[in-house]
Amino acid sequence: MDNLTVIVLAAGGGTRMKSKTMKVLHPIGGRSMIGHVLHAVQAVEPTSVVAVVGHQREQVGPHITGLLPSAVLAVQETQEGTGHAVRVAMEASGTTTGTVIVAAGDTPLLEGESLRAFAEEHHAAQRAVSILSGRLADPFGYGRIVRNHEGDVEAIVEEKDATPEQREIDEISSGILAFDAEFLVSALARISNDNAKGEYYLTDAVGLAREDGLTVGAHLIDDVAQTAGANDRAQLADLGRELNRRIVTRWMKEGVTVMDPATTWIDADVVLEPDATILPGTQLLGATVVHEDAVVGPDTTLKDCEVGAGARVVRTHGELAVVGDQASVGPFAYLRPGTRLGVGGKIGTFVETKNSTIGDGAKVPHLSYVGDAEIGDGTNIGAGTIFANYDGVAKHRTVIGRHAKTGSNNTFVAPVEVGDGAGTAGGTVVRRNVPAGALAVSSSPQRNLEGWTESKRAGTAQAEAARTARERAETDTETTGETAEA
Ligand code: UD1
Ligand code: CA
Repeated sequence: MDNLTVIVLAAGGGTRMKSKTMKVLHPIGGRSMIGHVLHAVQAVEPTSVVAVVGHQREQVGPHITGLLPSAVLAVQETQEGTGHAVRVAMEASGTTTGTVIVAAGDTPLLEGESLRAFAEEHHAAQRAVSILSGRLADPFGYGRIVRNHEGDVEAIVEEKDATPEQREIDEISSGILAFDAEFLVSALARISNDNAKGEYYLTDAVGLAREDGLTVGAHLIDDVAQTAGANDRAQLADLGRELNRRIVTRWMKEGVTVMDPATTWIDADVVLEPDATILPGTQLLGATVVHEDAVVGPDTTLKDCEVGAGARVVRTHGELAVVGDQASVGPFAYLRPGTRLGVGGKIGTFVETKNSTIGDGAKVPHLSYVGDAEIGDGTNIGAGTIFANYDGVAKHRTVIGRHAKTGSNNTFVAPVEVGDGAGTAGGTVVRRNVPAGALAVSSSPQRNLEGWTESKRAGTAQAEAARTARERAETDTETTGETAEA
């Protein structure tokens, strides 16, 4: 379509959300409500997009231009109705010709395909006005499509202005309308606010077109949920569940195994490859990508993460982390931003990682914190290791080479480096660099203070156990004539 302007209405207060966040900014499926609408709008490749902002426009305006920098913001100082809002938009954009589509900012299930089909039908039929309509079992609150005996659309009548007979009509206006721009400009000048709400209703343009002898039509959408708006948090949750159901179904059709769709949450911008498997209780959020043959879950939350082909991520919480092909994570791992795990690597149980690269085939299997570290390919980090990256003032890095083997219960006091093929003994506190191939040992030789318990803890169960053990050893010595050490 050559000359297409899309107007998105987002000036209303959304008071029923009872929120300090504007209604259209509430998140659903990983985007704001208006983010979903703008996404659908882009599918019709409009010449220009005008967003009408009013309430909390200092929040809403930058959010919109952040998502769609080319959007024109039209400020509606006082909310005097949808007709008034569109007049403000037309003045701001200077549009006088072509096609104009009006949509609301709070219909997050709207799909670009539906909007495109609607725009194309409107254009082909050369109508003054087209209405995207739907049939609802409970049409309460919506504008009703009034048709004459021939079935032609005569008008849209708002709930509050409808007669009892009109209220029985189950065909409703979704609020998404398409106009011939020249007609719209002339209609906006004629719309009055002489109605039950005292507002300028955009929907009155339909009746005006009929009076002008122009063509009007309604395009019935089968999938009426796409036009559903969320006015309060209960409706937002309902739409969120429905949106998720649609996203999960779409990925299953693309070849992804989802064991339990009801407990699997996938944001709109997530990408999954065929033969990925998602187990119950898993949330894939933001821009997360899961490659083929990877298995994620159960009970895993990943935000803006990438999981490589054939990798396994079990009971894990991750954000801005990259897991290599065939790598293994969890159960009970916490991947913080900047974690990069190499091909076939392992981040095991009760391990927290942050801003660290763990090389191909490298392993951090148990009970460790890895912060600001670089661990070379094939290196194994012993159980219970802490990368002490923070000296109380600044963060420092630890670099460990290839095929190193570090002992259990080590502390790496950064900044420090361990060379390729080096080792560290159990309990080592590594404060100085370890050359390649060396073994670092920092603990002093062990001393045993014989008889300490019986002399210092007399009368306790510990002392009693010590005494019994000593007496047994003495008896054994008497009967065998041998000492315990012999
Ligand atoms: C509107 C339609 C109704 C339709 C319904 C679909 C009119 C008069 N009625 O009713 O036919 O069935 O949507 O959901 O158009 N807005 C502004 N500025 C204003 C007033 C509203 O930007 O001055 C915005 C709101 O923020 C909202 C949208 O326009 O995004 C719709 O306004 P709302 O008051 O919710 O209209 P409804 O009564 O729902
Ligand atoms: Ca509404």
